Amino acid sequence: MADATLKKIIKYDEEYYMACFGKRVPLVADHGKGVYLYGTDGKKYMDMIGGIAVNTLGHAHSKLTKAVADQAKKVIHCCNYYYNEPQTLLAKKLVELSFADKVFFANSGAEANEGAIKLARGYWYKKGTPKPKIITATMSFHGRTMATIAATGQEKFRTPFGPNLPGFEYVAYNDIEAIKNAADKETGAIMLELIQGESGVHPADYDYVQAVRKFCTKNKILLIIDEVQTGVGRTGTFFAYEQYGIKPDIISLAKGLAGGVPVGAVLATNEVATGFAPGDHGSTFGGNPLACAAGLAVVNEIESAELLKNVTETGAWIQEKLQKVAKKTKKISDVRGKGFLIGIELTSDSAADIKMKLFEKGFLVSSIGANVIRIAPPLILTKTQASKFVTALQDVLLGKE
Ligand SMILES: Cc1ncc(COP(=O)(O)O)c(C=O)c1O
Repeated sequence: MADATLKKIIKYDEEYYMACFGKRVPLVADHGKGVYLYGTDGKKYMDMIGGIAVNTLGHAHSKLTKAVADQAKKVIHCCNYYYNEPQTLLAKKLVELSFADKVFFANSGAEANEGAIKLARGYWYKKGTPKPKIITATMSFHGRTMATIAATGQEKFRTPFGPNLPGFEYVAYNDIEAIKNAADKETGAIMLELIQGESGVHPADYDYVQAVRKFCTKNKILLIIDEVQTGVGRTGTFFAYEQYGIKPDIISLAKGLAGGVPVGAVLATNEVATGFAPGDHGSTFGGNPLACAAGLAVVNEIESAELLKNVTETGAWIQEKLQKVAKKTKKISDVRGKGFLIGIELTSDSAADIKMKLFEKGFLVSSIGANVIRIAPPLILTKTQASKFVTALQDVLLGKE
């Protein structure tokens, strides 16, 4: 019976849904609990990808579902003509946790980055010195909208959809000289991820980020950090920039902020926030009461359950165990990342194959490119649970059924 649902949905998906996702992993998510997701066929999966760094508190977390249900009973949406308590309180909370003084809410990572790009350009325009050029990194990923594909340093995302938005220049990642060579008097911002998640989980070097910050300050260039994937505790600190000893001028957030309810956010200093005057920017849904109530529940739970400590400790423990698996199997060439954002590079181009074998064993991961497995589990994952994943991966790499 349950198998019939799987078959039906796959058939309908092929018939009615745009082919953007190609052939998907054969799982129709029915419900979840904690770090586990259950298919309509009743099978249980340990969710080691967490909706790609979204399900911060896992599935069906009692505090998150209560916050969403309570808010839904009161008011799901009201437009931004009026004040909205969860929106204001979540903005206050994010300011208290960060370098920022002001917040604007959007609905997704791409939309948060759109806001960040627009804010940077608006800031220099309003100062009377327009500087529209933005430097980003090759192999970066900033989203799928027209501005964010233009910001993304990977041609395959841009070329089919040209003409692309002008004003972006791409330079090698982790190379300060490349930035210095590309910057000129038109450069208003440099936009970077601190871990390039979508291109294989590549962390930025500490010295590089320090040097970029110094270069930006010296040359009056804004530093935008895209924390869509790394933010909200994912790397073991609430924001990844905290681990680099810098303060950005603008950051974008999304993914994990509301634990699965769509939300995005742009955070900036008071000075930079002058880039938006009344009427310059807006969003119908952005920052609505439902999303912000969910965001508040997530942020409060990260604090009260000490999840950052768990991410730091368990994340380091997973990497240590994976290094052992690498030694034993000789099938892993690199393990990298921070906290609960980990890339496992394989010695052969078999990431998609390994992903499917893990799926058959009841574990959900993502494959990036030909040879990287990425995990981004809920921040509530325990060592006991993680050890089951490590054992399963080792078995798969050793060819054990
Ligand atoms: C660093 C980064 N920026 C932006 C985005 C786009 O976010 P969204 O898919 O919510 O638009 C992503 C998504 O993977 C991302 O990883």
